[in-house]
Amino acid sequence: MAENAPPESRPPENAQPASAQPAPVCLGTWPTPVEPAPRLAAAAGLAADALWIKRDDLSGLGGGGNKVRKLQYSCAQALAAGATTLVTSGAPQSNHARLTAAAAARLGLRSVLVLGGEQPALSQGNLVLDRLAGAQLAWLPGATPERLRDEVERQAQQVRDGGGVPYVIPFGGSSSFSARGYADCGTELLDQLPGIDHVVVAFGSGATMAGLVASLGAGRVIGIDTGAVADPGATLETLLDGMPGAAVRQADLRIDRGQVGAGYAELTPGAAAAMRLAARTEGIFLDPTYTARALAGLIACVADGRIGHRDRTVFLHTGGLPGLFGHPGLPQLA
Ligand SMILES: Cc1ncc(COP(=O)(O)O)c(C=O)c1O
Repeated sequence: MAENAPPESRPPENAQPASAQPAPVCLGTWPTPVEPAPRLAAAAGLAADALWIKRDDLSGLGGGGNKVRKLQYSCAQALAAGATTLVTSGAPQSNHARLTAAAAARLGLRSVLVLGGEQPALSQGNLVLDRLAGAQLAWLPGATPERLRDEVERQAQQVRDGGGVPYVIPFGGSSSFSARGYADCGTELLDQLPGIDHVVVAFGSGATMAGLVASLGAGRVIGIDTGAVADPGATLETLLDGMPGAAVRQADLRIDRGQVGAGYAELTPGAAAAMRLAARTEGIFLDPTYTARALAGLIACVADGRIGHRDRTVFLHTGGLPGLFGHPGLPQLA
């Protein structure tokens, strides 16, 4: 599988019924800060006191990022199932894979990461961190979503054959159960910042937006598609269907598909501009794949009136910075 074609997420095969779900394990540092961003607000066309950044890039474990909240739920299931090894998959620069390796280390488990692509001659970015955390890497050049799932199952079987207990975490770490991590984030945000009109977040495998929609309502969450899945609306609906009390109509979901550009792995001009803007106004670094697209989407929403000049707006910084150092667009930014 190429880095630009990650497979759709699906519930883990080893998921337990909702009634038997364990409490999340704590892997991060909570609550994450919420910071006003007046210079970025003004540059984006908002009133100076109308924009905040929710710093989930500072979530603690393994370089931080949104995957930590989801892993708190997935890892609780893994521990309840007696797992010895977390097995997951992703693109070579997957932030989810890196944080799965870090979570496994924190919990005294092993990790196997199935990465869709050619093994590069030189490890960079997230790959270096995967190796530092002791993950076992399995490469799958030219992988389709189906082949990647088969390879994950093959790796899980190898763990069983060796006397271990594998626990498979789905691509991107997204399931209806792990999405509860972002329902928690929505609740945390409401405590920190009452009266929020919009939360803008990158959409990859979908559980981050799903959890926010579950706690904040569909009308307040804008997901900026990164091109990671073919049909983000359907992906989101499936995730929400599996969350008790969270089902919403697809028509009410706010997913912006205007920032995908030439594809998931490409650095779009809008993302490059957003990275420079965040760095030069607030000293905040974004990643080229997710958070830069999310900020570019936020700016586009202000420009066309979907976000009003005085609307209280939160930009959710979901981390991902290590991916910058393994991204093909890096020379254009340097
Ligand atoms: C840095 C970063 N932000 C946002 C996302 C999107 O999160 P989700 O997959 O829950 O949609 C990802 C997913 O890989 C990510 O790595």
